[in-house]
Amino acid sequence: MAKKLSRGVAVVGVGMSKFGAFPGKSSRDLFVEAYQELRQSVQKGFNPQEIEAFYMGNFSSDQFENQAHLAPIVASWVGLSPVASMRIEDACASGGVALRQAVLAVASGQCDVVLAGGLEKMTDLPAARVTDTLALAADTMFEVPAGFTFPGFYASMASAYLDEYGADGEALLRVAIKNHENGALNEKAQFGQRISDVMASKKAKAAQKGQPVPEWADEIAFLKDGKANPMIAWPLRLFDCSPVSDGAAAVLLVSADLAERYSDHPIFIIGSGQASDGALAERESLTSVPSAARAAAQAYEMAGVTAQDIDFAEVHDCFTIAEIMAVEDLGFFPRGEGWKAELEGKTARNGEKPVNTSGGLKSKGHPVGASGIAQVVEMWKQLNGLAGARQLQPQPKLGLTHNVGGTGQTCVVHIFERRS
Ligand code: COA
Repeated sequence: MAKKLSRGVAVVGVGMSKFGAFPGKSSRDLFVEAYQELRQSVQKGFNPQEIEAFYMGNFSSDQFENQAHLAPIVASWVGLSPVASMRIEDACASGGVALRQAVLAVASGQCDVVLAGGLEKMTDLPAARVTDTLALAADTMFEVPAGFTFPGFYASMASAYLDEYGADGEALLRVAIKNHENGALNEKAQFGQRISDVMASKKAKAAQKGQPVPEWADEIAFLKDGKANPMIAWPLRLFDCSPVSDGAAAVLLVSADLAERYSDHPIFIIGSGQASDGALAERESLTSVPSAARAAAQAYEMAGVTAQDIDFAEVHDCFTIAEIMAVEDLGFFPRGEGWKAELEGKTARNGEKPVNTSGGLKSKGHPVGASGIAQVVEMWKQLNGLAGARQLQPQPKLGLTHNVGGTGQTCVVHIFERRS
């Protein structure tokens, strides 16, 4: 028997801060920005006192901001005390898991109106400490002492993938080019620049300094230039990585029967799945993420849809290889064919399966605890025709989010539907 939500759940409002590096702002300041935008997005308005619980995704405010027990503090900062508030920590999937807990709270009948949020403030620490903090999401008994960092883990997956499928490494670069192209159309993105814009600005800077102006034939030539795009962990270069980011996002969930009280254009969460796995070192294969395939199977079954029915998706592209593996794990393309789909433009906005129209983690930014919630912001915008210059045509009806923690120790998948 397919597992169903006991009652329907709708999203009636969303908001997010700009993503980027904000030296003067704390994570709670950024959450205020997200929450204020959310309040304005609820078409018919709502009274904050209606909120019965706050599920907040955050990976490591302890390390990044020297602040633990953050959820009640953030709740108070936006005027929600004494609402039940809890922080969910599942590495980069913290936001997606917070969303799922909020969905289950509404579906169970325990709550009618729930706030799900995510936030992270990463840029106050020096780069080496950020890397060490992120590595806490791996197995610190076995993997970290062996020298692994997150770029290193995903580099291992990338080299295994390229070898197993004889894939052309240019596919990785194509993911970066596409996601920067989309991010350039998203005013909230950390990198509001196409790769061609980055090239132009590097040329202008060199000319200004009286240095030799570099010449690249195209974006691929730029991305293959070891000086412009240095190696981080072979075969992954700088532009294969998501950045270090600050940001916050929030969504308001209500039971489906109440949705019209808040909005004439709610979107409905019709599928939810979550699965876990051990450390990367324990897996039989490095070229897929089993928890993603399992979470997706649960979500498809609950929603009564297949991968073919999904119009577009926001997937967890913490590194370019992660997007290629995701489009296979989610069943959008056959195993070993994801790289070809990226090369052939099938995941572009005008492709057969648009992926990461927001710019993804790669270009929009990856404040880790916020990413899973920010994916829902893009669902809301695309499904409601509010995505501006990056709006998909025709307006989609079904979207999917895929949020991964660590190397896939956690994966959460949700499916969203527009009915009007
Ligand atoms: N993509 C593209 N450009 C990037 C970038 C990225 N991910 N990260 C930084 N840059 C650019 C900066 O804008 C800056 O450009 P400028 O010189 O033109 O101003 C330049 O690179 C240097 O920035 P800096 O912040 O000093 O980079 P860094 O070397 O400290 O960090 C990485 C680069 C790749 C190591 C860092 O972004 C990183 O660790 N990313 C992965 C984060 C991660 O693991 N997240 C969890 C995933 S599971």
